[in-house]
Amino acid sequence: MSRLEGLRAIVTGGAAGIGWATACKLMAEGARVAVVDRSPCPEGEALGYVADMTDAEGLTTAIGAAAEAMGGLDILVNSAGIDLEAPTEAVTDADWTRVLEVNLTGPMRAARAAFPWLAKSGNAAIVNISSAAGLRPIPDRAAYTSSKAGLIMLSKSLALDWADEGIRVNAVCPGAVQTALFATSYEDAEDPQARLAEIKDRYPLKRVAEPEELAEAIVFLASPAAAYITGVALAVDGGRSFH
Ligand SMILES: NC(=O)c1ccc[n+]([C@@H]2O[C@H](COP(=O)([O-])OP(=O)(O)OC[C@H]3O[C@@H](n4cnc5c(N)ncnc54)[C@H](O)[C@@H]3O)[C@@H](O)[C@H]2O)c1
Repeated sequence: MSRLEGLRAIVTGGAAGIGWATACKLMAEGARVAVVDRSPCPEGEALGYVADMTDAEGLTTAIGAAAEAMGGLDILVNSAGIDLEAPTEAVTDADWTRVLEVNLTGPMRAARAAFPWLAKSGNAAIVNISSAAGLRPIPDRAAYTSSKAGLIMLSKSLALDWADEGIRVNAVCPGAVQTALFATSYEDAEDPQARLAEIKDRYPLKRVAEPEELAEAIVFLASPAAAYITGVALAVDGGRSFH
């Protein structure tokens, strides 16, 4: 299937996890893909650019270079993100600022850098990877949940602001997904398997998702099949956030 033939995509945080699964699916559907990540992206068809979401200049340069190399840009997926589990009374200003900068300011910077390219596309879409925790809070994660709720509102704001330029902007809100980031929430527990079972139990579907299941929803929202969808926050979370 090649429903994305001729389209060009950038995936921030695309070197691992949900971002990498999305980059692979975008390529499988015919898109050219550039990955922008603080870590080098796995060998393969994707163009790789190393940049950190907290480095405004480096990120802007990488987005511009990637779009230039692909001859334009149609899709931006912002998947780069970090977690922070700590009681709020122990969170330092530096920790708070770092989480907000990677998870919220970074996607804004990437979108801003991509804007002139996307405005010329005619098929432009941004998909920001928020979290079910941006819809419904979880304990000891105030910085993370605030950053992800902010990312949902950033997506809606940009959907409104950039509709006239033909740029659709949506958010995807994953529940637990089997990645390195998720593993940190149970690996260090006294009994990791018991902790994992406890997490699964919070989900009506009683399991953790694979990154490829998220990629399905992200690529759909990025594709012309979703041409009339903008400003939504789509929960792909095994039912975690609806009750
Ligand atoms: N895995 C889950 O359970 C889950 C649940 C809800 C939301 N999410 C969100 O999905 C997104 C992807 O998470 P994942 O589970 O694939 O994580 P992951 O840790 O497997 O991958 C994240 C990628 O982002 C990159 N990255 C992190 N900080 C960066 C920075 N400052 N600059 C540039 N790149 C950076 C990493 O190098 C990595 O390649 C994140 O925004 C995360 O908050 C994940």
